[in-house]
Amino acid sequence: MRTMMIAAAFIAAAGAALPAGAQSQKAAPKPAEPIKSYIPGLEQFMGVIQNEHAKLWYAGSKRNWELAAYQLGEIKELMSDMQDLVPTFKDLPLADMLDAVITGSIADVEKAIEGKDSKKFAATYGKLTDACNACHQATGNGFVVIKRPTQPGFPNQDFTPHK
Ligand code: HEC
Repeated sequence: MRTMMIAAAFIAAAGAALPAGAQSQKAAPKPAEPIKSYIPGLEQFMGVIQNEHAKLWYAGSKRNWELAAYQLGEIKELMSDMQDLVPTFKDLPLADMLDAVITGSIADVEKAIEGKDSKKFAATYGKLTDACNACHQATGNGFVVIKRPTQPGFPNQDFTPHK
């Protein structure tokens, strides 16, 4: 309630600061403009997925299941955004191809995380990585080869579990 009053006071003050006449002038109806929206390119989504994929490993390999679940959730979210925004790539049904990964490899990693099973996590993470590469091959991007991170990354983030 108090913040509402502060906000109202701010708006009133900001309004009072407008030049005389500006407040009484009715805004002329704007002509309908096409909505300009920015749709990131697929490679931009993929760049973020690459980070999430690495972080997923750092979290899962440290048995930080809460963070691993979060990172996997981010990958799923990005894939779902891609399905909506970039449903095809060079006439290929990217959305359907992503669906196969979401319901396949991703669901398997999800189960490993839910079961807090390190061995299963490592195995399903490997399968997910294979799925990344299989799609790169299928889309003519086989030169983009993803692997399990072999060195620690993100020196500004602690991947060990914290409570
Ligand atoms: C359904 C297909 C598909 C899947 C699954 C997929 N990718 Fe991609 N990826 C692509 C395509 C297509 C490109 C090329 C994009 C372009 O050229 O605009 C790409 C490009 C990339 C790039 C290069 C982008 C850059 O700027 O460096 C990276 C990195 C990448 N993917 C990471 C991943 C990772 C990590 C996974 C798995 C978690 C994954 N991808 C899963 C289709 C896929």
